[in-house]
Amino acid sequence: MGSTTIPLALLHDYDGIHELDNSLPPWWLYGFYLSIVFAFIYMIRFHIMGGPSSEDEFNTAMAEGQAEVDAYLASAKDLIDENSVFLLTDAGRIASGKKIFDEKCVSCHLADGGGLVGPNLTDDYWLHGDGIKEVFSTIKYGVPSKGMIAWRVELNPGAMQEVASYVLSLRGTTPANPKSPEGILIEPAKEVQTPDTTEAVDSTSISETATIQE
Ligand code: HEC
Repeated sequence: MGSTTIPLALLHDYDGIHELDNSLPPWWLYGFYLSIVFAFIYMIRFHIMGGPSSEDEFNTAMAEGQAEVDAYLASAKDLIDENSVFLLTDAGRIASGKKIFDEKCVSCHLADGGGLVGPNLTDDYWLHGDGIKEVFSTIKYGVPSKGMIAWRVELNPGAMQEVASYVLSLRGTTPANPKSPEGILIEPAKEVQTPDTTEAVDSTSISETATIQE
């Protein structure tokens, strides 16, 4: 070691520790060059030419997943029963529900749902419940003793889900000749009710009671 000639400028010596000028190992050096090249390609691709960001890639993956779910649901729509049924929001399928309703239901419920032999389907009074599961069940099994047909014989589950969703879309509309209410009053489900509102209502009723007692 002592015989190695080191240029004076590089003869750094700190407390006996020498700084040497060894040539860099080739793997390290080429790795370093490669990372510079990579950095340029990366910068051009993603910052100049507008390549997809991680967020874009995430959204694409989510959209692909959603498309798969939709495809599955479309192929599985006839596996629906009263436990798994959900309210459709797809305008196309609600329109199919309207078609079925116009063909098969208007004779007893009228085209606007106002009711004739069957009850008014637009008001808040229900004989058999106002949830999608209950309405689906009523349509599926009918009320044979009261004249409501069990539609499972004629309609497949997807079609019953469509017509049930259409029936629920009629709620709150104003038919020309509404039949008088039948069944029990069920307030339309409110969107998430905050605890604050509930408390406010409670305190009002308490103070009212207090006034009456005085
Ligand atoms: C032959 C007449 C008739 C036809 C056709 C008919 N319904 Fe009904 N529907 C009734 C009667 C009657 C009732 C009331 C049953 C009862 O009193 O329990 C009823 C009840 C209902 C209810 C329950 C309403 C409530 O208040 O809970 C729904 C929902 C319903 N029908 C949907 C339909 C749909 C959808 C169709 C077409 C696929 C249809 N009905 C076809 C006679 C009919």
